Amino acid sequence: MKLLITGGTGYIGSHTVVELLNNGDEVVIIDNLSNSKKDVIEKIKEITNKEVTFYEGDVKDKNLLEEIFKNNKIDVVIHFAGYKAVGESVEKPLMYYDNNLISTINLCEVMNKYGVKKLVFSSSATVYGMPKELPIKEDFPLSTTNPYGTTKLMIENILRDLAYSDKDWSIAILRYFNPIGAHESGLIGENPNGIPNNLMPYIVKVANKELDHLNIFGDDYDTKDGTGVRDYIHVVDLAKGHVLAAKKVFDEKGIDAYNLGTGNGYSVLEMVKKFEEVNNVKVNYVITKRREGDIAACYADTNYAFEKLGFKATKTLDDMCKDAYNFVLKNR
Ligand code: NAD
Ligand code: UFG
Repeated sequence: MKLLITGGTGYIGSHTVVELLNNGDEVVIIDNLSNSKKDVIEKIKEITNKEVTFYEGDVKDKNLLEEIFKNNKIDVVIHFAGYKAVGESVEKPLMYYDNNLISTINLCEVMNKYGVKKLVFSSSATVYGMPKELPIKEDFPLSTTNPYGTTKLMIENILRDLAYSDKDWSIAILRYFNPIGAHESGLIGENPNGIPNNLMPYIVKVANKELDHLNIFGDDYDTKDGTGVRDYIHVVDLAKGHVLAAKKVFDEKGIDAYNLGTGNGYSVLEMVKKFEEVNNVKVNYVITKRREGDIAACYADTNYAFEKLGFKATKTLDDMCKDAYNFVLKNR
């Protein structure tokens, strides 16, 4: 298969490109480098010993998309490109609606024109809003609490309408839980600029003494130890889920959504303890007030993704903590 990967130099995209190349697929990447660096391409080559075609540019740019589809016989598109910071989306909603929606609409229009109607889309567990029950199943009601999440839900709806209007489309919507960790080589991983929003990158910076301590956002939730519980999944497992989803859309028409998680929920305190134990480092923390918009607990029912895609995460929390820190140590 030959795949176009939008956002392919980003965190999840780069790990997915590696798994696709390892699987024997051909890869074309488009990324505007708004949240990633060009050297990722070299790192991918170093890991896989394989070449990729890279277009530096914006998915909103229809002329560039046309050039890509004219010059490459693409079978499947995996669409990662987009902005993803919840807090920033509250401050700059138009920027989020513009980038996430327009890029997707333009991409689908050009795909239509070139008769490429197989798409895997990066959605998020955030579309489940405040789930009434756990674990979360794919048919639970959908709602959102911030503009970022709303862009994901709007895109899901656009894709459902598209697949309904034209039965030739095959679309897999992947709802990621909490991806963490890095490739075991330490060559690619997650390296946010400034102060991280998410738990694992923050823990890593505290362990690495770039930040003084972790703020734990609340210890009075109705969870095992009062701190928030999430379904952390190793980014390499997540990447492998995309290889399976790409095969699914290649083989079968229609649209469906799948949870990509492990089905296990870990609390913030458990994450801190596990990280300290696995990496033999100290992670100082203080308990502060709850973060606005956070939910107590969120973890996936993984049965449907297993039944339909054959997806099962295999890496452990030890692997996630070890690989996340290894990436930072190798890139200090
Ligand atoms: P990332 O920021 O590392 O990767 C996104 C990539 O897209 C970046 O390389 C960025 O430069 C590029 N990009 C953004 N807008 C673009 C545009 N208009 N044209 C071309 N390139 C553009 O993020 P990630 O963590 O790899 O996430 C990938 C996708 O998965 C995103 O759609 C995100 O919303 C979704 N997602 C991520 C998480 C998570 O926790 N990381 C959870 C759920 C869903
Ligand atoms: N947390 C802290 N301190 C921090 C950061 C996080 O205590 O400095 C806690 C949070 O309160 C939460 C847990 O750690 O209980 C995980 O928080 P993250 O910010 O890492 O992840 P979220 O589950 O809040 O959100 C992430 C992505 C969203 C995505 C969602 C579901 O940021 O974009 O997972 O996939 F929608």
